[in-house]
Amino acid sequence: MTTLPLPKPVSCAPSLIMGIETSCDDTSVAIVSSDRKILAHQTASSAALHAKHGGVVPEIAAREHLQSLPLVIEAACTQANIQLNELDGIAATAGPGLIGGVIVGSMTAKAIASSLGKPYFAVNHLEGHALTARLSDNVPYPYLLLLVSGGHTQLIAVLNRGKYIRLGTTMDDAAGEAFDKGAAVLKLGYPGGPKIQHLAESGNPEAVLLPQPRLKDKDCHFSFSGLKTAFAYAYNRLDEDEKKRQKADYAASLQHAISKALIRRTAFAMEIFTSQHLPADDSPRLVVAGGVAANLHIRSALDKLASDKGFALIAPPIVLCTDNGAMIAWVGHEYMQAGISNDFNFAPRPRWPLDDTAPPPPGRGVRG
Ligand code: KG4
Ligand code: ZN
Repeated sequence: MTTLPLPKPVSCAPSLIMGIETSCDDTSVAIVSSDRKILAHQTASSAALHAKHGGVVPEIAAREHLQSLPLVIEAACTQANIQLNELDGIAATAGPGLIGGVIVGSMTAKAIASSLGKPYFAVNHLEGHALTARLSDNVPYPYLLLLVSGGHTQLIAVLNRGKYIRLGTTMDDAAGEAFDKGAAVLKLGYPGGPKIQHLAESGNPEAVLLPQPRLKDKDCHFSFSGLKTAFAYAYNRLDEDEKKRQKADYAASLQHAISKALIRRTAFAMEIFTSQHLPADDSPRLVVAGGVAANLHIRSALDKLASDKGFALIAPPIVLCTDNGAMIAWVGHEYMQAGISNDFNFAPRPRWPLDDTAPPPPGRGVRG
């Protein structure tokens, strides 16, 4: 970490940071101002190229980032109507994620920052998701965060920038993986979450009896692999006619089972958050973030849970829930306001837990 020179004497113009996100299959670049305006947001997705493989192929993703990133940066500058040298800093995802893409984004950000003499911010992708609601809704610290993405399912007490206490995590698959693998069983294609959600609209969520993972455990840790296996086993036993007739019921039942698991664990975490991390004179907030937070069934279940428990629910707009450059730029702002940036020798990290201090969950260990 580098300490930035003291900020210029109060100037009225808000500062501008470019955020670069390349950790998975989206090449996303945004320009965000310190007063929370998204001046540009451009994304090129390579999802279609991965669809036939049933998941993201890291080599293909890295090659696409390399080709797309200069064009996406140019498009973002055009949209914001600014030149690169008008930026006050460059932020890029430096992990966790697919390392090829993370290297492409980090190297590009370092090159731009170094050639312009501007600060560089090596952003933890999970921190991007964790702080999105501060960009979209100006949510004050502290809050309870349910982070549900393709690689992570975590419950975190967000106490401040850089201060995270993990209350729960997944012991095997992430919620997004359960959606993606379920969609692969139903032969819906990738990414699975939106496709399951769409098909579930015409299905009955109670039609298929699926196991509730870790029903008896009173803690905040998740497990989705048993559910995924039971789902595949039940569907694959059907004959072709039954599969056709019951597909929507299966999609709706899987979505409902994932949602119930998230709600149950979040309810435990709410108790811990309120008793251990919430100042006596504050009222509790629950923030949901990550790609799975785009799911409308889950959003409405969380809405009900929050109102039952007296929490305010903050769910950022869907475009800011899935991977995006704006959340990365915003983390840059949070660090710039604290006078902190990164050295150019910061090495990208394929695994980079948001919080190293919490004990690992029972079972097979922590996903980074
Ligand atoms: O946060 P994200 O965009 O990328 C990662 O950092 O992983 O999350 C991607 C995940 C995928 O598993 C995708 O299927 C899931 O988010 N997802 C959804 C929905 N939209 C995206 N899952 C359920 N319902 C959705 N509408
Ligand atoms: Zn993500």
